[in-house]
Amino acid sequence: MEEGVGGEEYLFKIVVIGDSAVGKSNLLSRFARDEFDLHSKATIGVEFQTQVMDIDGKEIKAQVWDTAGQERFRAVTSAYYRGAVGALIVYDISRRSTFASIKRWLDELNTHCDTTTARMLVGNKSDLENIRDVSVDEAKRLAEEGLFFIETSTLDSTNVKDAFQIVIREVY
Ligand code: GTP
Ligand code: MG
Repeated sequence: MEEGVGGEEYLFKIVVIGDSAVGKSNLLSRFARDEFDLHSKATIGVEFQTQVMDIDGKEIKAQVWDTAGQERFRAVTSAYYRGAVGALIVYDISRRSTFASIKRWLDELNTHCDTTTARMLVGNKSDLENIRDVSVDEAKRLAEEGLFFIETSTLDSTNVKDAFQIVIREVY
């Protein structure tokens, strides 16, 4: 957390990680601009967006960092994680392989961040209930080891703001 001029402004860095096509970039665009893209392109490199939020009457700036899930497009160095107070670790509830990868993403996070970084396990695409491949119970069990857990849909907006807010409240 960084305190700005006058001590009235807070900047929180949050990183978003997870396999390709789980919806990381759409989480960001839904959160920051209330936009959804059905045909979003795979992210190349690193991008970030800043979104102002009001928490308990205080102006909070969430600086959310997004990177490629695809190995060949990743440009992740320790700079990506540096200073992150929160992390969203995202999988797609309709693709089990993306859930299986969570352990690897947590390992990477643990390599670069200490235990004070708030962690939120995010099961995205909750609108795809008819082809669900990962149960809520299973995800909750994984999250028991020090993670928050939420299911989101960037398509219908379910829980997107909450996912970020819960993390920010934890570190605020
Ligand atoms: P990389 O940049 O390659 O790491 O992928 P990403 O995790 O950023 O995924 P992205 O946000 O680009 O979304 C991938 C695809 O999933 C796109 O076609 C999105 O429209 C779709 N998508 C994202 N979120 C949702 C969701 O909540 N529900 C549904 N049904 N589709 C989604
Ligand atoms: Mg992306």
